[in-house]
Formats: sequence, structure tokens, C-alpha cells
Amino acid sequence: MKIIKSPEEMQRIALDLKRSGKTIGFVPTMGFLHEGHLSLMRVARSQCDVLVVSIFVNPTQFGPNEDLDAYPRDFERDEQLCESELADIVFYPESGNMFAGDASVWVDEDALSGVLCGESRPGHFRGVCTVVAKLFNLVQPDLAVFGEKDAQQLRIIERMVRDLNFPVQIIRGPIIREADGLAMSSRNKYLTAEQRKNALCLRKALDLASERMAKGERRVSNLRKSMVDLIDAVPEAEVDYIEFADDGTLEPLKNISGRTLVALAVKFGATRLIDNAVLIP
Ligand code: PAF
Repeated sequence: MKIIKSPEEMQRIALDLKRSGKTIGFVPTMGFLHEGHLSLMRVARSQCDVLVVSIFVNPTQFGPNEDLDAYPRDFERDEQLCESELADIVFYPESGNMFAGDASVWVDEDALSGVLCGESRPGHFRGVCTVVAKLFNLVQPDLAVFGEKDAQQLRIIERMVRDLNFPVQIIRGPIIREADGLAMSSRNKYLTAEQRKNALCLRKALDLASERMAKGERRVSNLRKSMVDLIDAVPEAEVDYIEFADDGTLEPLKNISGRTLVALAVKFGATRLIDNAVLIP
């Protein structure tokens, strides 16, 4: 397994691999890898000749008061995990080499990015789209795997690939959960033991919405209220948003009539967790 730090070297090696007829599967990450990331690597590994994993905590997708400096990092452990998943290349650039000090070109998606996390984290998806576009140019992947846990990010990347004609197939990887139902996330590490227990309310609220829908409830206001009540009763849990959106357009819904993305963000102190489910009436 090769560790590549230089963007220019990454691009040169990727172009050579393409010229020699190899297919490249790509999993972009911000490191501090967990089973969710590893499951994405297995998908890419099984479908391509070469597996590239990037580890880059992208400063441009963090707001001024967010956790960029505190974001968990452990490169040695990540390296071992990539090796055990048979990655061929880990692309591990430094921030100064990825973005010129006077960088002035950005990729901005403006239909799906204003709602859900985009509303709570202005500029976040501009940072995500820009870095993913750059990574696609550097890694030259035939396919890239993104997790369903970041449902909005996944849909925005799919839109970017469609609208900017990137020659990359995007594959959706399912949410991977701990045994008790908490969606895996690098940010779970910030939780105290008490918060970790209480964080199960995200999954419970999603299950409640899906059970009530299965029993015939279609009004979003009623479904949303029962989720808010459940979470409000949990110590320290503070709802950032709970939204029901059309799964394709992410437009907010009043009633459920087709595939619906129910997505939520809940804060435990400074830690903000997200989760989602797709409801199909
Ligand atoms: O999902 C993530 O970890 C990041 O948003 C990504 C896609 C690696 C871009 O920095």
C-alpha cells in the first residue's frame, strides 16, 4: 500500500493507471475510520482493480465555530485499517497543498444545499462539493462510494456528477450501525458515556416515525411532533432539525405520499449527530 501526500503525484499515478487500463475505485474520507468507512472500501474493492482511499480533513466544509481543530485524527490507525481492507493507495494530502492561499473557484450546488444540514451549516456543501470535485480530478476514479448516513451530501454529489459530467459512477453505501442502533460516525467519539446512551434517541425517533407511518399516519406535522416529543424527553438532547423531504428534490413535505427522506440532526452539548431513514408509504 502506497501513501501519497502530493496532489500532483496522486494525479500522475492515477492517470498512468488509467492509461494502463486499470479501473479505480475511490472512497473519500476525513479519517478516524470506522466500520462504516470500511464497508464503503469493501464495495469499491470488489468492483475495481485499484482501491484509493483519501484521508483529508477538509477545512473548507467547516464553519468558523465548528470542530475543525478538534476533529478526531489518528493516521496510524487509519493506515492499518486501509491496509487490512487491501487499499492500494492512501491519499493523505496536507491542507496547504490542496488549496492555494488565494483559491477563488468553488463548486456551489444551489438546489439541494439550502435545506437540512445546509441551513444549519451555511457554506458546508460548497466546501464538500469543491473538495470532492478536486479529489475526483486528482484520483480519476471510475466509481466512488459514499455513505447513506450523509444522505444530503450523497444526493448533492450525485447532482454535481450529473450536472458537471464527471465520468464517475456514484455508489450508495448503506448506513452501518452499532449493535444498539446508533449510526456509526467519527463524531461519536466526542460523546460522554451518558450522551452515548442518550444518543439512541435519533434511531428511536426515526423508528417511531416509520411505525406511525406504517399504521397510516401521513401528516408530517404529527409525525414530526412525536419525534420532537421523544427527543425532548431525553436529557441533554437538543433538536437542531427534523425534516421530511421529497427523496429526490429534498423539498419539504406536508404529507407523505411517495419516497420520503426523514432526516434529523440532534446536539448533545457541542456534538451534533445526524441520522436518516427513507420512508416508503
Ligand atoms: O463525508 C465525508 O467524510 C466528507 O464530507 C468528504 C466526502 C470526505 C469530503 O470532505
